[in-house]
Amino acid sequence: MAMRAGDHSQVAMNGLKEKVLTLDTMNPCVRKVEYAVRGPIVLRALELEQELRQGVKKPFTEVIRANIGDAQAMGQKPITFLRQVLALCVHPDLLNSPDFPEDAKRRAERILQACGGHSLGAYSISSGIQLIREDVARYIERRDGGIPADPSNIYLSTGASDAIVTVLKLLVAGEGRTRTGVLIPIPQYPLYSAALAELNAVQVDYYLDEERAWALDVAELRRALAQARDHCCPRALCVINPGNPTGQVQARECIEAVIRFAFEERLFLMADEVYQDNVYAEGSQFHSFKKVLTEMGPPYAAQQELASFHSVSKGYMGECGFRGGYVEVVNMDPAVQSQMQKLMSVRLCPPVPGQLLLDLVVSPPAPSEPSFAQFQAERQAVLAELAAKAKLTEQVFNEAPGIRCNPVQGAMYSFPSVQLPPRAVQRAQELGLAPDMFFCLRLLEETGICVVPGSGFGQKEGTYHFRMTILPPLEKLRPLLEKLSQFHAKFTREYS
Ligand SMILES: Cc1ncc(COP(=O)(O)O)c(C=O)c1O
Repeated sequence: MAMRAGDHSQVAMNGLKEKVLTLDTMNPCVRKVEYAVRGPIVLRALELEQELRQGVKKPFTEVIRANIGDAQAMGQKPITFLRQVLALCVHPDLLNSPDFPEDAKRRAERILQACGGHSLGAYSISSGIQLIREDVARYIERRDGGIPADPSNIYLSTGASDAIVTVLKLLVAGEGRTRTGVLIPIPQYPLYSAALAELNAVQVDYYLDEERAWALDVAELRRALAQARDHCCPRALCVINPGNPTGQVQARECIEAVIRFAFEERLFLMADEVYQDNVYAEGSQFHSFKKVLTEMGPPYAAQQELASFHSVSKGYMGECGFRGGYVEVVNMDPAVQSQMQKLMSVRLCPPVPGQLLLDLVVSPPAPSEPSFAQFQAERQAVLAELAAKAKLTEQVFNEAPGIRCNPVQGAMYSFPSVQLPPRAVQRAQELGLAPDMFFCLRLLEETGICVVPGSGFGQKEGTYHFRMTILPPLEKLRPLLEKLSQFHAKFTREYS
């Protein structure tokens, strides 16, 4: 941006040069990016923690961060086998220690053999260690009842986020009315809106049906698509299953209908399946898009383009700090696939410790191995506790007047709707805040409970929500849910 004459003299007087990079000169797409999960509420939560440490008196003794799907930060214990192999790989001298089971040692040696210089500290090839891509392919085959998976269609990534952004980058093209549009669910996981803003693509919202437990309805996809075609060129459809923040698990018929729709409308499908291990509700089952697509036969099986994403961040392992993930591409144009490979190579490689953890997740101990029993017990314990917490959350919230919570069928979050009195809405507007942001800020200040306002994920006009993880330990969760419900009642009285 050009400097005004006065600015020049001011700069000269101070002996300071204006910064090259200012809010006015920076990339405007970056300025548009918002990411609610780590937004202003979380910054305030950090400040409150600091104040508590300094001895400032508050109506609570700790801040409970129920804002982010970070299992281990909420006290979930890492799975022993994963950490044993990791420790052995990081410090191979431990291979001589009697404290580690033999199968963990064999695993560590197998992975180290596949690493550059037999060290976890070496770069890998950009698409990930070949041995691990092969293990991922075998995992997908087992998961999908024997449907083949080709390791050369699997790319390891820095968490699922990195692979999702990479695929979006491939899809973005055009200008004005030819700009790429990407259909995303509302409510959505804000990585999608943030990445689309950064890439200057057009976000096309389709609404999940809250009245039908956040079901995905093809009629709504059609509406969103028709409307979007007036101003952009929709090229991709993203589906999150199980859903974040909405916790629904899609029925197989729904997935078939989505695939038929994508095929008819020539849309590239992006299936975010990072919660594939997190399914709790009776009668709910995870069906991968790849499996359903393949079983639908021609013309879908051999033609519909798909990218499916998975991660070590969620599931029973919750190893999100290690940043492991993968994408499997199906029916992608080989020339585009080469371009994707090129793009990935610019970033060298995903973290090798994350790749290692992914390998262990996709090939856990076999029943005949010494670590099997403990691994199974730990895995089951985490998943059983999550299932109990999903039920408890739904139950306690639905007992509270003015709060309504759909069943948490899968993933790690509840996304209840809250009624906010008109005077609270008006007060929020006076303060320049979204009404549910106002509610969540007050909740944080008065109870120490940190949740994310629904406005950060998108919601139907005039409705208000918050997202809360089901991750706090069971003994803390019930009092937390009750405290939150009581706060809502008090807030409602105050503004009625
Ligand atoms: C739906 C969904 N997709 C992708 C991610 C990204 O996960 P990661 O990059 O840690 O694998 C998350 C994280 O919360 C998520 O909820």
